[in-house]
Amino acid sequence: MATKEQFIEKVTQSYSPKGASIFLGAGIFDGEIVAAAKVNLALKMMNRHGLIAGATGTGKTRTLQLIAEQLSNEQVPVFMLDVKGDLSGFAQEGRSNPALEERGQLIDYPFQPQSFPVELYSLSGNKGIPMRITVDDFGPILLSRILDLNETQAGVLSAIFKYAGDQQMPLVDLTDLKKLLSYLSDGQGAAEISDDYGRISSATSGTILRKIVAIEQQGLAHIFGEREFDIQDLFQKMDGKGVISLLNISDVQDQPLLFSTFLLSLLAQLFKSLPEVGDLDKPKLVFFFDEAHLLFNGASKTFLSQVEQIIRLIRSKGVGVFFCTQAATDVPETVLGQLGNRVQHALRAFTPNDAEALRKTVKTYPHSEFYEIDKMLTSLGTGQAIITVLNDKGIPTEVVATHMIGPRAVMGAADPQLYNDIINNSPLLQKYKETVNNRSAEEIIEEKTAVHRAEGEKVKAQKEVEKAQAATSRSTARRQTPLEAAQKTATTTLAREGVKFLGKLASGLLTAFLKKRK
Ligand SMILES: Nc1ncnc2c1ncn2[C@@H]1O[C@H](COP(=O)(O)OP(=O)(O)O)[C@@H](O)[C@H]1O
Ligand SMILES: [Mg+2]
Repeated sequence: MATKEQFIEKVTQSYSPKGASIFLGAGIFDGEIVAAAKVNLALKMMNRHGLIAGATGTGKTRTLQLIAEQLSNEQVPVFMLDVKGDLSGFAQEGRSNPALEERGQLIDYPFQPQSFPVELYSLSGNKGIPMRITVDDFGPILLSRILDLNETQAGVLSAIFKYAGDQQMPLVDLTDLKKLLSYLSDGQGAAEISDDYGRISSATSGTILRKIVAIEQQGLAHIFGEREFDIQDLFQKMDGKGVISLLNISDVQDQPLLFSTFLLSLLAQLFKSLPEVGDLDKPKLVFFFDEAHLLFNGASKTFLSQVEQIIRLIRSKGVGVFFCTQAATDVPETVLGQLGNRVQHALRAFTPNDAEALRKTVKTYPHSEFYEIDKMLTSLGTGQAIITVLNDKGIPTEVVATHMIGPRAVMGAADPQLYNDIINNSPLLQKYKETVNNRSAEEIIEEKTAVHRAEGEKVKAQKEVEKAQAATSRSTARRQTPLEAAQKTATTTLAREGVKFLGKLASGLLTAFLKKRK
């Protein structure tokens, strides 16, 4: 039987990394909170990603909060999904209460109130600065996912994106996409695309169109457009602290597919634009996915492999990703295997499903000489967790049941007045408030269609002229014949269309000229 001294020694040996670290709490041995057994997470290892799991109400979100607070103090910016709209309290000093005082005493780490610099975003634009993305940057895979397309339909969507790229037609918003889809399925573009990319059946295009319209009817169209969110804005520092950027999705909570996919697209953007940096002393940014099961439920293979790939590769760009979910089994194994830092809060074992999840979770932990992991997992209290992280050599540390420290800021939403002030005082509000409509696929297709129509009219008019000439030569009548009248009308229409088209072309060129893309 191990002794308390051995426990302290083992924990200290495992959890005293070189360099800056995050203090998580004190080890629990034989039911006792041992303040001397300090549990730290190396900043250097945070790009090796992490998982925070546990049943509802066991303390996951507060763990996420206390980690984010310390990252901010270490000048590491943080991005976080605020699912219930109750994380904005970061901006406000926490108030002490007996529970927090007691927690502080037990861990020998007194409660210290503090507030943090916060930026508030939302997808709707109602609860924060609007975050938008262009259809192009969102890409066909993620779009297929939110539109719930089958493989054939997704294939068509990919071909359309490919065509748009080849033809230099920017797809900015959903109108662009709808316009291009119609143009390529029943417009004059149908012949054009069928040669190089295959024919688009009207049934498929009809289904895709209907699904786009459904998204619009849910009031979500404005997520796609410009000005697109510049991910560089996630790297802000303020007053010597990393800014905590919160994406409030409480008003689109019933659209899990949409926001989880949007988040993934942000990660993909980060991945595309950040340079390789290898392993740094501390991460450049840490991303927290609360309620991560929403990301993985019912996901396609393509989607999962995209998540897996981004997570694997983003590490060398200095970005850490932490998933927060009820059961480790919510996360696909290929992703789970890459989450080096694990904080597992209490699990319940009420139902056979619970028991199965518990058994699987236990299997993912190294053997412990101090605990029976399954018993420990079902008996942990609120704000306690079983932890194993990577030490500064990348080796998993000793498993330790930990009594977590309390967060320093308010555990919940900020005062409504403060909330609004943060949004309204942010320079980023001016940057992103208005939607801009640059020349994109919609305008380009309109121009093409106008050219096509004008050419058609020209040919028609020419034919009419020839017919009329033939008739005139046969006729001696001096008054205008019906054919002459027809000829005149056709020429006038042509002239009108021509002028309209030239006007559109000129304004198109002008916008293209004035337009600054990224
Ligand atoms: N580290 C902690 N320090 C202080 N209180 C905590 C801590 N963790 C959890 N709590 C308490 O437990 C409640 C539930 O925690 P929460 O993080 O919201 O659970 P979950 O996200 O797992 O549903 C919090 O509102 C808080 O009162
Ligand atoms: Mg929570």
